[in-house]
Amino acid sequence: MRHLISADQLEREDIERLCDMADKIRENPQKFSKILSGKIVATLFYEPSTRTRLSFESAIMRLGGRIISTENASENSSGKKGETVSDTIRIVQSYADAIVIRHSDENSAENAVKVAEVPIINAGSGKNEHPTQALLDIYTFRSSKGHIDGLSVAMLGDLMYGRTSHSLVKLLGLYDDITIYELSDERLRLPEEYVTLMKSKGVKHVRCGSFDDIPRDVDVFYQTRVQKERMGEQADKLRTFDLTTSIMNKFSDDSIIMHPLPRNDEISIELDEDKRAMFFEQAKNGLYARMALLYEILFLG
Ligand code: NCD
Repeated sequence: MRHLISADQLEREDIERLCDMADKIRENPQKFSKILSGKIVATLFYEPSTRTRLSFESAIMRLGGRIISTENASENSSGKKGETVSDTIRIVQSYADAIVIRHSDENSAENAVKVAEVPIINAGSGKNEHPTQALLDIYTFRSSKGHIDGLSVAMLGDLMYGRTSHSLVKLLGLYDDITIYELSDERLRLPEEYVTLMKSKGVKHVRCGSFDDIPRDVDVFYQTRVQKERMGEQADKLRTFDLTTSIMNKFSDDSIIMHPLPRNDEISIELDEDKRAMFFEQAKNGLYARMALLYEILFLG
């Protein structure tokens, strides 16, 4: 793999291999601590980030590489002066061996690849995709449930504008016997193209009206934040389906709770102590999944 732009690029075998590698790195980080020595990776973030940027930067440094970074590229890079992403990529690639980019433009990563002579990793392209998040989400399913085939996943929150859900649906489509229960405001439902995709991949898709429509033994709750920054005033009038202790009491002890984070009120903090809460672990898994990806792209080449 040279670039990672979309979850479409990943096959089951790729995911298995990357997850196996993430496990190996987690078990013996010392063994991998110099593999990127001499490499420099640029992180170009035009949108806010905590987990994605810092876990990428930590992953690079834990593999022995170094970083150059603009943590607020829309303000602090020449983007502010009107430079296009393509021009910026042409420049930054002279200084770095790979570029990790997040931008509000849905085609940002694809456009970057068109001019890039170094690997490009999409760390979030508008409301479109977030493939490395989907990779770490699948890695979290695998480490906490032990398998992906046969999983039932309740997807909640903002499935219209939430890029993490889009990339995740694409990856879940690679597995057998998957059921997705969709519970969201009708204006925040998965876009039609993802519904079509699920159908073509044999994913069972159930639109729910309330928590009562989700089976007690659902394997995963995948909660997401309303992407207010992508929809303006409409955001305040939307219905959310927040997870609280009283809601979770209706579900199995084995139903895990995930969230790409950051959260607002959609998972109440009282659930942090619930043994089913997996979202902090999930964020930690991002480090290992991204180390595995960097190993493939930059070390194996
Ligand atoms: C997500 C994102 O940026 O799409 N955050 C993340 O990378 N973990 C989710 C969000 O912002 O709601």
